[in-house]
Amino acid sequence: TANKKILVLPGDGIGPEVMREVRRIIEWMDRRRHVSFAMEEGQVGGAALEATGSPCPDETVERALGADAVLFGSVGGPRWDSLPFEKRPELGILRLRKELGLFANLRPALVMEPLVDASSLKPDVVRGLDLMIVRESTGGIYFGEPRGIETLPNGKRRGVDTEVYTEEEIARVARVAFDLAKKRSGRLTSVEKANVMQTGRLWRAVVSEIGKAEYPEVELSHMYADNCAMQLCARPKQFDVVLAGNLFGDLLSDLAAALTGSLGMLPSATLGAPDASGRRHALYEPIHGSAPDIAGKGIANPCAQMLSFAMLLRWSFGMEEDAAMIETAVEKVLAGGLRTADIMGPGTARVGTSVMGDAVLRELDKLAA
Ligand code: NAD
Ligand code: IPM
Ligand code: MN
Repeated sequence: TANKKILVLPGDGIGPEVMREVRRIIEWMDRRRHVSFAMEEGQVGGAALEATGSPCPDETVERALGADAVLFGSVGGPRWDSLPFEKRPELGILRLRKELGLFANLRPALVMEPLVDASSLKPDVVRGLDLMIVRESTGGIYFGEPRGIETLPNGKRRGVDTEVYTEEEIARVARVAFDLAKKRSGRLTSVEKANVMQTGRLWRAVVSEIGKAEYPEVELSHMYADNCAMQLCARPKQFDVVLAGNLFGDLLSDLAAALTGSLGMLPSATLGAPDASGRRHALYEPIHGSAPDIAGKGIANPCAQMLSFAMLLRWSFGMEEDAAMIETAVEKVLAGGLRTADIMGPGTARVGTSVMGDAVLRELDKLAA
């Protein structure tokens, strides 16, 4: 595996703090499992803006294109909130998704048993929850043209965003979702607002056609996005794989995160299309942001970043055993009662980011023994 190249982009806020704990896992793997990777570190977000004038320098894009996988932290912060759009740190992640062709964003929401009490919902509503949101991530209203803020002849301003989806864009992400549904429970819920949006009408039609023609064994249902948000809160366990466009998928995945206890727990993988040799670009990141309210305090939950690394091992390198080991270690630490502030429950002890990291390494030691 030493020839496997990982580009690490810690970014801003808590990004570097939680990435540090992943680095310790990587060092542990080198020491204890004799697997090593070719690691590189690059700049993105506000940090890159300060250093180079761009939130996503060309050099970072080129290195990402050349890597076997990208491990991303988070970008953004109040310091840069009033900058023009092209300078905003968030452009860092948006440009990487676009340039690497990362159209399928997989966002699992898994309730680990020890965290059942950390959810704001009743234990029986969330116990055992295991759903996967497949979010389209290079199209829709995030990228559609025209967009911008313009001044009208009457001197008043007008903001414009455009939701556009082509049939191909819908079809390729739908196939990712159908393939996952086939491997899981065989159920897929496709989400849009076909009752009010033209992109929603096309989305529903294309997903239905693909289901009928290519995945007759998958049980497909359609749901309006507003109802889906409500159903996720009321009866989340009815869902297995949920397919949505860029904006609805963004909203629904933060909502699903809250079901699991905290944004600080959830990883994600963003995948491109495989080439002829089966190689595909892929980026792994927690679904949370740079958490400016707690950055620099050493209290961020590193689990989402660690679990994103586990997803990287599984999806990009086929290292199922190592991925599962990290996931088990995290769950054992939580079961032992150590918690960061965001996931406190009855009878648990509050610890900071690095103590959480220490505890995960201890569990890994036990698992490897
Ligand atoms: P956020 O996800 O950064 O934070 C939301 C809330 O969750 C905060 O209260 C935060 O403290 C908490 N939280 C998030 N991650 C946590 C963790 N690991 N441990 C403990 N608590 C955690 O969202 P926001 O506050 O809306 O956005 C802050 C900045 O991050 C903005 O600039 C936004 O654009 C950016 N952002 C970036 C990404 C990304 O890089 N992929 C994702 C979302 C938001
Ligand atoms: C996410 C974030 C990003 C998004 C922002 C930071 C551009 O919220 O990854 O969920 O909206 O896609
Ligand atoms: Mn988001």
